[in-house]
Amino acid sequence: MIERTTRRIPISRPFIGEEERAAVMAVLDSGMLVQGPQVAAFEAEFAERLGVRHAVAVASGTAALHLALLAHGIGPGDEVITSAFTFVASANTIVYVGARPVFADVDERTFNLDPAAVEAAVTPRTRAIVPVHLYGQPCDMDRITEIARRHGLLVIEDAAQAIGATYRGRLAGTFGTGCFSLYATKNVASGEGGMVTTSDDALADRVRLLRQHGMRARYAYETLGYNLRMTDLHAAIGRVQLGRMDELTRRRQEHARTLTRSLTSVVAPLEAFDRTHVWHQYTVRLPDRDRDEAARRLGEAGIGTGIFYPEGVHRLDHVREVAGEQDLPVTDRLAGEVLSLPVHPLLSADDLAAIAEEVNRL
Ligand SMILES: Cc1ncc(COP(=O)(O)O)c(C=O)c1O
Repeated sequence: MIERTTRRIPISRPFIGEEERAAVMAVLDSGMLVQGPQVAAFEAEFAERLGVRHAVAVASGTAALHLALLAHGIGPGDEVITSAFTFVASANTIVYVGARPVFADVDERTFNLDPAAVEAAVTPRTRAIVPVHLYGQPCDMDRITEIARRHGLLVIEDAAQAIGATYRGRLAGTFGTGCFSLYATKNVASGEGGMVTTSDDALADRVRLLRQHGMRARYAYETLGYNLRMTDLHAAIGRVQLGRMDELTRRRQEHARTLTRSLTSVVAPLEAFDRTHVWHQYTVRLPDRDRDEAARRLGEAGIGTGIFYPEGVHRLDHVREVAGEQDLPVTDRLAGEVLSLPVHPLLSADDLAAIAEEVNRL
């Protein structure tokens, strides 16, 4: 009894060590806090890691999506196809630029866009597809890029949760314009932060311009811009974390394998044979049970859980106003069934055993 009430296994926990602390202190001591040498070095390292020509650091994953859409010239009158089974920013950023989000339903096995539904959603107004690599597993990128090619559409990947994940050996965020989040709980975290990745020189230049007031030389404003820069403090943390990425991802993958081997009473997540999952979230389904009650019971047993996401973004009033009503039966069903369990790198073998035991007891 005592063990059950004192145990605390959070759903996520940032992995911050001495190196991150030292990196932040060095920036504070340097006196250069804003977008400076740390940001430039982080961008170079991120681009090299992905094998692309440019990584442009911005203030958040939301800023990355927003600026990628703007830099591609997407705006009023345009439609952008994406998933509704995602974090709200995937849709909000389409609304920010004045375009209309059009939602395609997802595949219940991967939680990701169903390519047949994407194809069915294309109209003469469609300009882009935003595949969301949910929970850290890439979408079916062969089929999505083929649809995009056939209809002349842009691909802007929401790779916020999928740094390091691959589809047929190729990294998420390198199929189109890549948008990453470096938020505190992400696999690679800078606190707040984001990256836009591309090998298109002109596009990278445009994102750089837009993130800093539309200004190239001091006070020479070329266009309407924003202040969506990353600070050197955040970049310094992100650089250390990027260096740890392989190790942290390997731990997440081991934890996911252990959970999948041990869980008997829920539908475990599928890792498609042609992808590597980086397990930003380990998400099970409870199709025949009261999911909210299960979350409550696990909470009482000291096991943190998350519901990503309790409703599709197509159900939000401010999105419906722009997108209209859309019928997404798989998204609606999954929103009532999913439950994410801790999979983060700081879990111990005992933690994993406790999670499996409590979930199997549900
Ligand atoms: C799928 C998805 N898209 C976009 C974002 C936005 O990223 P950020 O929180 O860094 O703005 C997130 C992060 O929470 C996300 O999970």
